[in-house]
Amino acid sequence: MVMAVYVKTMTNHICKIYCWLLLRQKRTISVINLSHHWLMIYAASWKCTLKLFMTNQAMHPAVKDIYSLFFERGMLAYGEAVTQAAHALQCGTLAVQDDASTGLVIAAFLHDIGHMLHQDAASAVEQAQDDTHQILGAKWLARWFGPEVHEPVRLHVQAKRYLCHVQPDYLPKLSSLSKFTLQIQGGPMTNDEAKVFEKVPFFEESIRLRRWDDAGKLTAMNTLSIEHFMNLVETYLRTHNWVLR
Ligand SMILES: [Fe+2]
Ligand SMILES: [Fe+2]
Repeated sequence: MVMAVYVKTMTNHICKIYCWLLLRQKRTISVINLSHHWLMIYAASWKCTLKLFMTNQAMHPAVKDIYSLFFERGMLAYGEAVTQAAHALQCGTLAVQDDASTGLVIAAFLHDIGHMLHQDAASAVEQAQDDTHQILGAKWLARWFGPEVHEPVRLHVQAKRYLCHVQPDYLPKLSSLSKFTLQIQGGPMTNDEAKVFEKVPFFEESIRLRRWDDAGKLTAMNTLSIEHFMNLVETYLRTHNWVLR
């Protein structure tokens, strides 16, 4: 009996160390095939890792809030094959690889923060309701960041509707969830809507962000770490002399 408890405890510790190493190695993994047990361990490792970073007392309040959101809801998947955290890390990394400006990298990393701000985004999707996460996210970001960050975030759903109109092979390549939510987000743009959208400030940036958004749902990908993006956010906020809006 004592031996069985000992083996179980040791196995749990080894699993936690393995997951922690996975997180430290900056490799996002798919949660879709993880058993409940592994999912629990993976989520616990994620929380432990974030808890370590969150002990930094000098942290900017916005960075603290972002850490808290990732801590509480980063491991939720909302119907995709990857977690919110993995999706954010993948999109941010793709933006860096594409030589995006700092503001646009932050926008890519935080573009779905509205899902995490929503009280129950998963239920909204299940009930075929639009959680308007792009609006929620952009409003929250506008308290701390300039339009180069919050505007591409606000427009990233519109950008999907636009691309469905102008690029015939775009829609079939979307994830199942993106296809489903497209319908509750208004469907593909009309010709007139697309022409208006092309003149909106940050149109180009929103299209770039959308491309990373669609590509950043890989079941496995080497990414930059969450520390990297949080440091970027912290530096941005310090250098932009933020004021609470
Ligand atoms: Fe989104
Ligand atoms: Fe997204």
